[in-house]
Amino acid sequence: MSNQTGRDKHHHRGDSVLAEGSPTPESARLPGAATPTTTINERFATVDKPLPCGGPRRHTGTIGNDGPRPFYSSFGNTYLERQDAVESNARTYPRRLPIALRSGRGITVCDIEGRKYIDCLAGAGSLALGHNHPVVVEAIHHALSEEVPFQTLDLPTPLKDQFIHELFESLPADFPKHFKIQFCGPSGSDAIEAALKLVKTATGRRGILSFHGAYHGMTHGALSLTAQSVPKAAISGLTAEVQFLPYPSDYRCPFGLSGDDSAKISAHFIEKLLDDPGSGIILPAAMILEVVQGEGGVNPAPNGWLRKIREITERRGIPLILDEVQTGLGRTGRLYAFQHSDILPDVLVLSKAIGGGLPLSVVIYRRELDQWKPGAHAGTFRGNQLAFATGAATIRYITAQHLENNAEEMGRRLQAELRCIQAEATCIGHVRGRGLMVGVEIINANHIETSEDLPPPSPKLARKIQNECLRRGMIVELGGRSGSVVRFLPPLIVTGDEIDEIAARFRAAVAASERAFVANA
Ligand SMILES: Cc1ncc(COP(=O)(O)O)c(C=O)c1O
Repeated sequence: MSNQTGRDKHHHRGDSVLAEGSPTPESARLPGAATPTTTINERFATVDKPLPCGGPRRHTGTIGNDGPRPFYSSFGNTYLERQDAVESNARTYPRRLPIALRSGRGITVCDIEGRKYIDCLAGAGSLALGHNHPVVVEAIHHALSEEVPFQTLDLPTPLKDQFIHELFESLPADFPKHFKIQFCGPSGSDAIEAALKLVKTATGRRGILSFHGAYHGMTHGALSLTAQSVPKAAISGLTAEVQFLPYPSDYRCPFGLSGDDSAKISAHFIEKLLDDPGSGIILPAAMILEVVQGEGGVNPAPNGWLRKIREITERRGIPLILDEVQTGLGRTGRLYAFQHSDILPDVLVLSKAIGGGLPLSVVIYRRELDQWKPGAHAGTFRGNQLAFATGAATIRYITAQHLENNAEEMGRRLQAELRCIQAEATCIGHVRGRGLMVGVEIINANHIETSEDLPPPSPKLARKIQNECLRRGMIVELGGRSGSVVRFLPPLIVTGDEIDEIAARFRAAVAASERAFVANA
C-alpha cells in the first residue's frame, strides 16, 4: 500500500494487542476467564490480579471496588450491579458486553480489572483513530491551552472555521460551491431530524421514503425512518408518512432472487411505485438511505443500484438524503461511501467519526434546499469547540495518511480470513461488508426455511459467539435481523497483524460456540 510507510511512521499503534505474545486461539482466553463455564459476571466477582493498565485507581468516596463507597456500597459490589440498580432499563450494550471500561489506547480497551480487549466496536464507529490517538489528544490539549470557550452555540470561531474548511476539503470538489452546512445537536439522530425538517420545508411535501433494514436513530422522527420494529412497537404517533422500500440483498433478497437480479428488481419496483398513481404513494419530500446499512446487518448497496436510485430520484425531483453517520470519513474504503458509485447526494448527514470521538453532527445540503427560516433548527450543543478541534485534527490526519486505503485493504484481508473460517464452520451463512464495516451472518444450519431456501438466522448462536469473543479479549457488536450478524468496526488504524489476531480470536470463538451448541442440542 502506497501510504503504508508514512502511516506506520506516524500513526499511533497504541498497545499492540500482540505485544504480550500472539496467543493461539484457545490460549488467547483471558487470564480471568478461568474456565469456559465461568461467566463474565463471575469473573468480576472472583478475579484479583495486577492491572497491566496502570494499576488500581482509588475513587475516594465514590465508586470502585478498591476504595470507600459510601454512596454506592449498598448497591452491590460491581459497576455492573450498581449500574443495574440505577440506570435505565433502556440501556443496551452492558447486557451483551458486561464489562466496565477504564482506559483505552489504539485499538484496545482495558476493563476495570486490567483485562485487555481488542475493540471492534470502537464507540459504534465513532473512534476512527482508535482510543486516545496522539493527534486527538494533542488537539484537545491545544484547545485547552488557548482557553477556548467550550460552547458557542452557532457563533463563528476560529476552530469552527477550521473544521468547516477541513470537512469541505475532504468532500468532492462540488461541495464548497454548491452545498451549505448546518451544525446540529451532537447526535446523528438530531442531524437526521434536521435533514427531515429541511427537505419538508424546501419541497412543501410530507412523505419520506426509507428502506427495509434502515437505521437512522432513536429520536421520534429518526425512529420513524428506522426499520426495526421492536423499538417502535411501544411508541404511538410516529411519523405516519414513511414508506419502506426493499433494499437489495444478494443473500436474503426480499424478492427471493440473487446476485444482480435483486438490485435490478428493487430499482424497477421503486421506479414503478413512484410512477403508479395507484401505488398509494404521493411524491415524497425525500428518500433517505445508508450506502452500507450498519445496524441493519452490514448490507452494502450495489453501486449500480445506487446509481439507478440517484437517477430515479433526480428525474422526479426527490431530494436524496444519504445517511453517512456511520460510513462517513474513510470507514468503507473511500472517504465517503457515495464515492464508490460516483453519485452525489442532495443532503448528506454526518456524525460519529467527523468529531474525532467527541460528539458532533452536521447536515450538508444543496444550496437550493436552504429555504428554512432563521431558527428553524437549533440546539444548545451545536458549538462544541473541543469537538471542532478533534474533528478537524482527525479529518486532516485521515486524509493526509489516506486511512481510507488502509480501511479498504484491511477490510479485504478481514473478509478473506472470515471466508476461510466460514469454510470450516457450519454456522456462518454469509460474510459481507465494505472496507472496515464487516459483518458475518450467523445461521442455524440444521434448518432450511422453505420460503427462502436458506437456513434461518440464529440470533442465539450469534450472541454465544459474541460472548465467546469477549472471553477471548475481543469486543464485537451484533446487528441485523434479530441481532444475528456479528459486526466488525475496528478503528481505521488497524494493522495487518491485528486483523489476523481479530480473525484468530473469532475463529476460536466460533469453534467454541459450535461445540457448546452441539453439546446442548
Ligand atoms: C446510519 C446511522 N444513522 C443515524 C444514527 C444515529 O446516530 P446517534 O446514535 O448518534 O443518534 C446511527 C447510529 O448508529 C447510524 O448508524
